[in-house]
This record gives sequence, C-alpha cells and structure tokens, in this order.
Amino acid sequence: MRPASGGDTTETVQMEPATETVTPLSHRSYGSRPVLELEDVSKTYPSVPPVHALIDVNLRVDEGELVGVLGPSGSGKTTLLHLMGTLDRPTSGSVRVTGLPIERLGDRHLSAVRATRIGFVFQQFFLAEHERVIDNVADGLLYAGVSQTSRRLRAMEALGRVGLAHRGSARPTELSGGERQRVGIARALVGRPAIVLADEPTGNLDQGTGQAILDLFAELNDEGATIVVITHDRSVAARLPRRVELLDGRIVFDGLVARPGVARPGVARPGTGEI
Ligand SMILES: Nc1ncnc2c1ncn2[C@@H]1O[C@H](COP(=O)(O)OP(=O)(O)OP(=O)(O)O)[C@@H](O)[C@H]1O
Ligand SMILES: [Mg+2]
Repeated sequence: MRPASGGDTTETVQMEPATETVTPLSHRSYGSRPVLELEDVSKTYPSVPPVHALIDVNLRVDEGELVGVLGPSGSGKTTLLHLMGTLDRPTSGSVRVTGLPIERLGDRHLSAVRATRIGFVFQQFFLAEHERVIDNVADGLLYAGVSQTSRRLRAMEALGRVGLAHRGSARPTELSGGERQRVGIARALVGRPAIVLADEPTGNLDQGTGQAILDLFAELNDEGATIVVITHDRSVAARLPRRVELLDGRIVFDGLVARPGVARPGVARPGTGEI
C-alpha cells in the first residue's frame, strides 16, 4: 500500500555495502503525481502446476523517479515489467498507469495507453537491422497518430537526447552495442512517455558501456524522465536512487539509496514532511 506521507520519523539505517545509506520507503514523503500504482497485485501463470510469479505486490512510482527493480532469476522481474507496461494483466489486484485503471480498459484502449504513455527498452535492443537509425526511432511513433514528417523530426530530437543525432542515417549493424542501446532508448523516449521501463538494459553490454547507459538514464532523469530499470545486477541497482527488491514474487525491500555526497531525492526532512 502507499506509505503514509509526513516525515517526523525519518531515520536511516546502514545496509551492505557499507558506503550506502538506505532509507526505508515507509519513511518517505510523497509529493509528486503517481505515474504507476500497483495495489495488491498477484500474477499466477496457469501452467501445471500453476506458478505464483507475483504475490501481493504494492508499488507506486511517482513522476520524476529513477527506480531499480532488483531480484534473482525467476523472482518475477519480467512479470512485473509486463504488468507495469500493460503487456499483461494481473490475476488479481489493480494496476493504474497515470491514474487509468488498466482492469477497466479494453484491449484497444490499452494499446493506446501503451503507445502514448509507456516506453520500453530491452536487453536485446530489438532494432530493425535493415532500417536506418532514424527510422528505427521514428517507428516508436507508428501507433501514436503522428505524421511521417513529425515522426522523423521527433526521432532526430530523441537521437539528440542520447547523443546520436549524427548517426541518424547509419544502419544498426554499423553501431557499437552501447550505441544500439542508445538508439533503443531514443525509440523509447520519442513518444514522450510518462514512464520508461527498461528490462536488463545493460545485460548485453560490457561494464564500461553499461555504466555509460546508466549515466544516460541519470541525465534523462535529471531532465524529468521517469524510469524503471529491471536488473539482476546489484552494481547496476546501486547506481539508482530507489531500489525495489523482489524475491520469490514478493517485494522484500523498497527504499531510497544514496552514496555519500549524493543527494537523496524525495526523502522527508525530519519534522517537516517536506521534500
Ligand atoms: N508464461 C509463463 N508461464 C508459466 N510460468 C511462467 C511464465 N513466465 C514466467 N513464468 C515463471 O514465473 C516466474 C517469474 O518469471 P520472470 O520471468 O518474471 O522472472 P525474472 O525475475 O524476470 O527472471 P530472469 O532474471 O531469469 O529474467 C518464474 O518461476 C518463471 O518460470
Ligand atoms: Mg526476466
């Protein structure tokens, strides 16, 4: 459930690694608008035997957050991303995207919500190899009712945001892995979504390139983008200000994490309830 706002009980506890400071989310003050709200969400796959992939998940992501969802293989991360991204529906519970209750929307309306409010970034990039970079990005607007000219203009703008404006006419095969993922991120951003959902976005990249992608997420977040990064890699999650940990389909930790000298956004100041 949504944690109570107010900040008179703010405290911090030390968790591993020792350089991290962690604030449990129950001590957090919510001030922004919710982009994503999951209430008592469960997902059971009707296989034999059935798999309870998510159990009683409560999660709220506000505008402007940068969140890491961390968990071992099989803990339910991709299932959670599919529910957050309206690619699947929960077995029980409620999912709201920008306030819209998913369970009350038909499939067509849901596709429209997905096309206009959610951007996806995948580990395998999923770029069309035969298409130029600019068209790969512009394709992110195919279902958003935007003219071809506008699609290309906006694609150039999105490529500029990821530092690839000069590679618009290249083919994906002419790019490095990190550049391909930048194109994937530009495609996710081009529809100006309310939220970007990234499933293991650095999983196919070497460590240095992966760090550069995380730097890019941090920059985009500074500019106002709301981003959820799914990962099994603790060093990736350590770069993100809020961490949600999944284990066996349940959230076992949800808190704000800051390393020394790094500001913690959204933490209530003791006694004030202010952010
Ligand atoms: N379509 C499906 N039918 C049946 N079971 C499924 C299905 N998809 C996932 N599962 C099961 O649900 C559980 C959660 O899977 P999920 O893919 O969400 O895990 P994950 O945390 O993303 O793992 P990984 O890190 O390996 O990608 C697993 O036990 C998996 O076997
Ligand atoms: Mg997965």
